Amino acid sequence: MDFVGRYGPWAVVLGASEGLGAAWSRELARRGVDVVLVARRAEKLEELAVELRGLGRQVRTLSLDLVRPDAQITLAAAVDGLDVGLVIYNACHSVVGAFMDVSLEDKLRTLDVNARGPLMMADAWAPRMVARGRGGILIVSSMSAFQGSAMVGVYASTKAFDIVLGETLWEELGPKGVDVLVVAAGATLTPNFEGITPESKRAGAYPMVPADVAWEGLDALGKQGPTFVPGRMNRMVFGVMSRMPRRWAVRFISKQTRLMYEG
Ligand SMILES: NC(=O)c1ccc[n+]([C@@H]2O[C@H](COP(=O)([O-])OP(=O)(O)OC[C@H]3O[C@@H](n4cnc5c(N)ncnc54)[C@H](OP(=O)(O)O)[C@@H]3O)[C@@H](O)[C@H]2O)c1
Repeated sequence: MDFVGRYGPWAVVLGASEGLGAAWSRELARRGVDVVLVARRAEKLEELAVELRGLGRQVRTLSLDLVRPDAQITLAAAVDGLDVGLVIYNACHSVVGAFMDVSLEDKLRTLDVNARGPLMMADAWAPRMVARGRGGILIVSSMSAFQGSAMVGVYASTKAFDIVLGETLWEELGPKGVDVLVVAAGATLTPNFEGITPESKRAGAYPMVPADVAWEGLDALGKQGPTFVPGRMNRMVFGVMSRMPRRWAVRFISKQTRLMYEG
C-alpha cells in the first residue's frame, strides 16, 4: 500500500504553524495527503494553508490551544466527516534555564503542552485508528529526552515521557494495524531554535533543516521504531551517548547545554 493509502487521505498536524510542524505539513502535502493544520496562531496557519492548497491539496485550519481540557473534543468536531489516517503531535513549549530559575507556571505549561497534550491526543485517536484498522500516530520528541540535563531539565523530562508513551502505543497498536513512531529530533533550524540559541552557537549544534527531519521521519513511519532519530550525525551521537555510563552522559550533555545557553 502506498503512503496515501496507508496514512491518508487526511492527516492532522498538531502544532503546525511554523518550524518543524510546517515542515511535516509540507512533506505530507508533497506526498499527496490532505492536511488539517492545528495551532493557536490562525494567521500563520492560513498562510501555510494557502501554500499547500497551491500544491493541489485540500487543507483545513483550526486555531486551538491543545492544553485546553476540551481540545480533543473541539478537534474531533472540526474533523468530523474526514477520513484521518495520520496524527502528528509536534507542538511543544520549551523554556531554557536552570531548574530554580524557571517559574512554576512555565514548568507546568511545559508539562501540559509536551506531555498532557500527547496523552490526550493518544487517548482520543488510538481508538479511532484501531477502529479504522490502519493508520499512524507520530509523536515528536527530542534527543534531549535520552538523559537529564542542566538548563532544559523539565523539557527533557516531558520528552522522555513522550518516548515511553510512544513505545507503549507502538507495542499495543502495531498488531492492530496502527503504526506508531516517536521521532527524537536533534537540533533543528526552526524559529524556536533560532530564538533561544545565540547565533554564534547554532552551527556547533549541527542543526538539521526541518524539511529533512520531516522527510526522514515520514519515511521511517511503519518501518522503524518505536523511536527514530533523524540525521546520520544525530544517530552517531546517540550511539556514543547510549554506551556511556548515565552519570557521564548527564554531565557531558549538561556541559554542552550550559556552553550553548550560558555563553
Ligand atoms: N527545534 C529544535 O531544535 C528541536 C530539537 C529537538 C526536538 N524538537 C521538537 O520538534 C518539535 C517542533 O519544534 P519547533 O522548534 O518547530 O517548535 P516551535 O517553533 O516552538 O513550534 C511548536 C509548534 O507548536 C505550536 N504550539 C505550541 N503550543 C501550543 C498549544 N498550546 N496549542 C497548540 N499549538 C501549540 C506552535 O504554534 P502556535 O504558537 O501558533 O500555537 C508551533 O506551531 C517540538 O516537539 C520539539 O520538542 C525540536
